[in-house]
Amino acid sequence: MRLVLLGAPGVGKGTQAKLISEKLGIPQVSTGDMLRRAETAGTEVGLRAKKYMDAGDLVPDEVIIGVVEERLREPDCQLGYILDGFPRTLAQAQALDHLLRRLDTPLHTVLAFEVGEEEIIRRLGGRRVCVSCQATFHDTNQPPKQPGVCDKCQGALVIRDDDTPNAILHRLKVYGELTEPLLAFYAERGLLHRVDASRPVDEVMQTVTEVLDR
Ligand code: AP5
Repeated sequence: MRLVLLGAPGVGKGTQAKLISEKLGIPQVSTGDMLRRAETAGTEVGLRAKKYMDAGDLVPDEVIIGVVEERLREPDCQLGYILDGFPRTLAQAQALDHLLRRLDTPLHTVLAFEVGEEEIIRRLGGRRVCVSCQATFHDTNQPPKQPGVCDKCQGALVIRDDDTPNAILHRLKVYGELTEPLLAFYAERGLLHRVDASRPVDEVMQTVTEVLDR
C-alpha cells in the first residue's frame, strides 16, 4: 500500500506513521527524519537543509524531491510505503505524480490529519525526541517511563531545534501557505480522506485502520 500523510506540524503524522508501518510492514518514509539524519551525518544535503529547518522554513523543492525519488526506488519500498512529510508543496506533489506514473505505482490513499492550532502548539511544546532512534514522546500525553530517557533504546530525549515557540508559529504559517493547497489537489483526484486527529493516539489509529480497510 502506498500512502501519503498530510497535516500541519504536530498533528501526529510521525506517531501514526510508525503505528501504520508496524501494522502493515511497510516503511515510514519521513523526510524530516531523513533530513535530520543527513544533518547529523554532515552530508551536503544535511548541511544545506539545516538553516531552513531550524528557522521552520521548507527545504528547497529541488533538494527534497531528489532525496525522495532515490528513497522510493530502494528495495524495501517496492511493496509500499508511508510518505510522512512529503509532498509539502504543489511542485513536490506534481513531481511525485510524475514519478509514480513512470513507475506505474499509483498512490492508494492520502490521509489528512486535522487538529486545532491550540492543541498543535501544546503537542509540539511538550514533544521530546530520542537522539538515537528518533522515537517521539510527550511530557504529558506520552511520557517516557524515565524522564529524559528513551523507552526503546535508552537514548537521550531532547527538544527539536524547530520546536521553539517562534519556529512553531512560523511552521504553521508555512503549512497554511504552501502545503494546505495539497488538500484540494488530492481531493480532486479522489484520494483524500480527512481524519480527526485531535483524539488520543489509539483512537486516531482506529479510524486510520477503518479507512485503510475500506
Ligand atoms: P518534519 O519532521 O516532517 O516536521 P513536521 O511536518 O513539522 O511535523 P512534526 O514532526 O513536527 O509533527 P508530526 O505531525 O509528525 O507530529 P508527531 O507525531 O511528532 O519536518 C521538519 C522540517 O524538515 C520542516 O520544517 C522542513 O524544514 C523540513 N522538511 C521536511 N519535509 C520537507 C519537505 N517535503 N519539503 C521541504 N522541507 C521539508 O507528534 C507531535 C507531538 O504530539 C509528540 O510529542 C507526540 O507524542 C504527540 N502526539 C501525537 N499524536 C497525539 C495524539 N493523538 N494525542 C496527543 N498527543 C499526540
